[in-house]
Amino acid sequence: MSIDIDQIRKDTPHCTDKLFFNSAGSSLMPTVVVEKVKEYLEEERQLGGYKVKDLRNEEIEDFYNQVSTLINCEPHNIAFAHDATDAYAKALSSIDFKAGDKIITSNDDYISNQINFLSLQKRYGIEILRGNNLENGDLDLDHFEKLIQESNPKLVAITHIPTNSGLIQDVEAIGEMCEEYDRLYLVDACQSVGQIPVDVRKIKCDFLSTTGRKYLRGPRGTGFLFVSDKLLQAGHAPLFIDMRGANWTDKDSYEARGDAKRFETWESPYALIIGLKEAIKYANAIEIKAIDEYNKKIVGDLKRLLSSLTGVNQFDKGSTTCSLVTFTKEGKSLQEIEDWLTNHKIFYSISDIGSARIDFAKKGVDWAIRLSPHYFNTSEEIERVTEIIGEM
Ligand SMILES: Cc1ncc(COP(=O)(O)O)c(C=O)c1O
Repeated sequence: MSIDIDQIRKDTPHCTDKLFFNSAGSSLMPTVVVEKVKEYLEEERQLGGYKVKDLRNEEIEDFYNQVSTLINCEPHNIAFAHDATDAYAKALSSIDFKAGDKIITSNDDYISNQINFLSLQKRYGIEILRGNNLENGDLDLDHFEKLIQESNPKLVAITHIPTNSGLIQDVEAIGEMCEEYDRLYLVDACQSVGQIPVDVRKIKCDFLSTTGRKYLRGPRGTGFLFVSDKLLQAGHAPLFIDMRGANWTDKDSYEARGDAKRFETWESPYALIIGLKEAIKYANAIEIKAIDEYNKKIVGDLKRLLSSLTGVNQFDKGSTTCSLVTFTKEGKSLQEIEDWLTNHKIFYSISDIGSARIDFAKKGVDWAIRLSPHYFNTSEEIERVTEIIGEM
């Protein structure tokens, strides 16, 4: 299995005038994605949004087919979301939390998820429990299972790949536990969808949320939520369900629709949905397995080359890591590193302790530079980036 890097770079023209290493932030869209969005907007300019939606309905519906191919489910399990946090919050809002209910999560879960749990704690008096990490950074699965057994949580919530490190959490092993103990299971796959294979049948989750702009290379302001049949049949629906998600059947009653679109809102950015669909179609055509294989190779080289540089400290822990690489350079301030990378046209992100209160406190760092290569990057770029960091 291999990818056609020349064609991919042709499809991504602006990857050649810079060293773009920020796909974990917001990646570069393939040209076809941007063209589809522009074409749709142009039609809206001419005809108005309602007419275009009617005319393009079949094409819009294909969004759900593309997502279902990508994550191995049925189209009716998918809801468009405005971003990963929107999808996640709607999933949480469908759970009937009561005082004393427990959520089990990890030390590496995403900042906004942690804030959401704290907000639920404030309003409903729920309890938050976090699984321990092993020495190598992995989640301690024995401890995690014991937590589930002993505390009987209302929800198990895990971030597949954290924003601030390359750690991959074992969402499939946790899925087995949730199945065994019959617990609700929510997975934040914001950094994994588009980067590595994500299969909801293997993960056995009830909800899975993600965004469009990162490794999927879609437009900003897009994402989706997967909802299992089990939860749809049990009647899970967002707290603030609207006329897209439900019929107002009588003065004092409403009925939620049968599919996961009950998690959508009536007003939607259809130009962007078409754009995200095109991005997913593009990834499906290349095949996620091929993307993953290629990424493993280039990120392996990046880590190896960075570790050969004196004074560069990498912070990514765990037995399975991926295309997010965090580091600092001894004797260099954040400002100095930023200036250097920017002057050399390297596009990157900063992870700071504000978004990694537990992980960065343990690692003893306040910030780290995050490089996140993706399959349009080349081995030559990996070498060039490392050289530039070495010369700093
Ligand atoms: C792991 C993880 N979850 C969720 C999010 C939130 O995504 P969005 O900004 O699309 O809501 C991010 C964004 O960086 C993330 O890294």
